[in-house]
Amino acid sequence: MKSKIHELLGKTNMNVSKCRKNLTILVAALGIISFSMLQSCSKSSSSAKQTLYDSLGGTTKVNDPANSGQMIEKGRLGLRSVVDSAIFVIAADSKINEYFQVLLGEVGSGNLTGFQALSKNLTDFFCVATGAKNFSYTGKNMHDAHDPATNSRMNGKAQNSDFDQFIVDVVIAAQKNGLSNQLIGQVGVVINSVRSQVVQR
Ligand code: HEM
Repeated sequence: MKSKIHELLGKTNMNVSKCRKNLTILVAALGIISFSMLQSCSKSSSSAKQTLYDSLGGTTKVNDPANSGQMIEKGRLGLRSVVDSAIFVIAADSKINEYFQVLLGEVGSGNLTGFQALSKNLTDFFCVATGAKNFSYTGKNMHDAHDPATNSRMNGKAQNSDFDQFIVDVVIAAQKNGLSNQLIGQVGVVINSVRSQVVQR
């Protein structure tokens, strides 16, 4: 697992600088387009709405590639794959990886406990935020999770440019996992909704 992380870190590092500028523009444009589409859908139909979680595969059960013999909801698998890739992309991104010093130190010494906890909490968070019904988020609230005073794993307070870079890295991760531009735009809208709680300077 540790060597896989280092392998992924190497691969993603190459892509980060190349894609950064275009992706910033792309995610902004996709976010606006998706938001407009969501608005017009909600105006034209009052029947049961398809959530983003549904669009990602919803509650359909599939084999969990990470846990042999276990099933997982397809929507959750899609989000977990993006989350895990995003952690690797962020870990390799010198623009924001300083915030994750505790995590990187642990992984560097072969301790994956914090990585696994973060992967679960982030996946739960995105499942709930995108409309999943069978999961709940039990981690810290978004302000406390990103305040070094209440989360000693957060190395400093983030600013707006860090948040923008975080979005760029999530877009790279979503593209690596084959999400369509439309879905990436919708994920971008979800991410932006917590900006004011995460950005604290
Ligand atoms: C949409 C944006 C974001 C979401 C949804 C999010 C979500 C989360 C969640 C759920 C946790 C775990 C909380 C817990 O364990 O109780 C977390 C931890 C953390 N977040 Fe964020 N976050 C976002 C943006 C950012 C940004 C922009 C940064 C810094 C640039 C950042 C840095 C961190 C760090 C350093 C931790 C601690 C990691 C660890 O456990 O080692 N996050 N975040």
